[in-house]
Amino acid sequence: MKILVVGGGGREHAIIMKLAESPKVTELYCAPGNGGISRYAKCFDVKATDIDGMVALAKELKPDLVVVAPDDPLVMGMVDKMNEAGFMTFGPKANAAIIEGSKIFSKELMKKYNIPTGKYEVFTDSDSAIAYIKEQNTYPTVIKADGLALGKGVILAQNETEAIEAVKEMIDGKKFGESSARIVIEEFLTGPEVSVLSFTDGKTVVPMISSMDHKRALDNDEGLNTGGMGTIAPNPYYTDEIAETCMKTIFQPTIEAMQKEGRPFTGCLYFGLMLTPDGAKVIEYNCRFGDPETQVVLPLLDTDLVEIMEAVYNGTLSELNVQWKKESASCVVMASGGYPVKYESGKVIAGLDEKGQTDGVFVYHAGTKYNDGEFLTAGGRVLGVTATADTLENALAKSYQAVDTITWENVHFRHDIGQRALRAKQG
Ligand code: AMP
Ligand code: GLY
Repeated sequence: MKILVVGGGGREHAIIMKLAESPKVTELYCAPGNGGISRYAKCFDVKATDIDGMVALAKELKPDLVVVAPDDPLVMGMVDKMNEAGFMTFGPKANAAIIEGSKIFSKELMKKYNIPTGKYEVFTDSDSAIAYIKEQNTYPTVIKADGLALGKGVILAQNETEAIEAVKEMIDGKKFGESSARIVIEEFLTGPEVSVLSFTDGKTVVPMISSMDHKRALDNDEGLNTGGMGTIAPNPYYTDEIAETCMKTIFQPTIEAMQKEGRPFTGCLYFGLMLTPDGAKVIEYNCRFGDPETQVVLPLLDTDLVEIMEAVYNGTLSELNVQWKKESASCVVMASGGYPVKYESGKVIAGLDEKGQTDGVFVYHAGTKYNDGEFLTAGGRVLGVTATADTLENALAKSYQAVDTITWENVHFRHDIGQRALRAKQG
């Protein structure tokens, strides 16, 4: 099979490496890809959001499967367009991707089908939103842009001033354009967070191994929110008992709800959960594999990913027995100094071989360029240094040993990935 993966980050690199293990695969393509991916798949310079350009590329390459990984093209309907052109795909159609594309849609879905989530109200004008904030007078409070906002559409306001400022910026200042014309004001929830990715063909849902992201830029969960500075799997807070409850109260009900709404979801549905004192609640849905969750989840997958993707497309997922390795995985993200705000690109990365790799780990490239035998930084998040081992402690040791051998000017990474998980295990 020839497979085209749409996207160009660490997540796409992880998907490509897992696809490469399949005996069914003869050729791998990626668009736009990146420096590291280009050492394993043929890359094409087409933007992930260029729907027409991507369909034209597919017509040229004639892949047997197109995997659409990022949120924007999914919400924009790339899967619909690929299907119309006759291609088998992995990923939801636009009418199902809305579960991530509109927070108002997802909140209303959860309310209608009694899926546990934080209390909320929807606002389209700032005066009513501010009146509501003053009336509630409870902080922190959570302000969310309705649409996609590059992962920056959620504000945890600590007081009235911050809350009002966020509302004004979003609705009146059009901070995220149309995406923030409507907002959700949500109850602040507390507890450990768990990411559960799942495979679903619209009827059957198969949760993957749980994981934990580390979203803040600095050690001890300080600094700004980022796309994710590291991950571990499995997540020790997510016990078998909690998993069983989530299946009954969240996963299965969500799949059924989407089906009843005439929006069957096929692909990877990501459940962002918070384990609150009142039980697990949904913080967010993503219509795709998480980044950098995928970098720790897929290395632990034992079943052929191509077979899973075919079963998802054909609606036969219930016939497949998806197996996982009984190991742990860790991914430490190495980022450009200054990320997630201002950073420089084009720095030469030292410590990688000609495949962009180093001993003992797998280095997933998120933002690199390959130039004449050298890798250069080309983004905020640059590398995801990933290890698997019998225990989380050993996986982390391998990741950090490798991180110590890779460097560039102003490199930045967190030193405490997995520490909270290790404490949870001991506690
Ligand atoms: P999102 O962009 O939806 O992934 O949200 C970013 C982060 O904001 C989440 O990972 C949570 O840590 C936090 N968050 C979102 N909603 C809530 C909430 N209702 N209560 C507390 N934290 C939240
Ligand atoms: N790591 C969180 C996300 O992919 O949205």
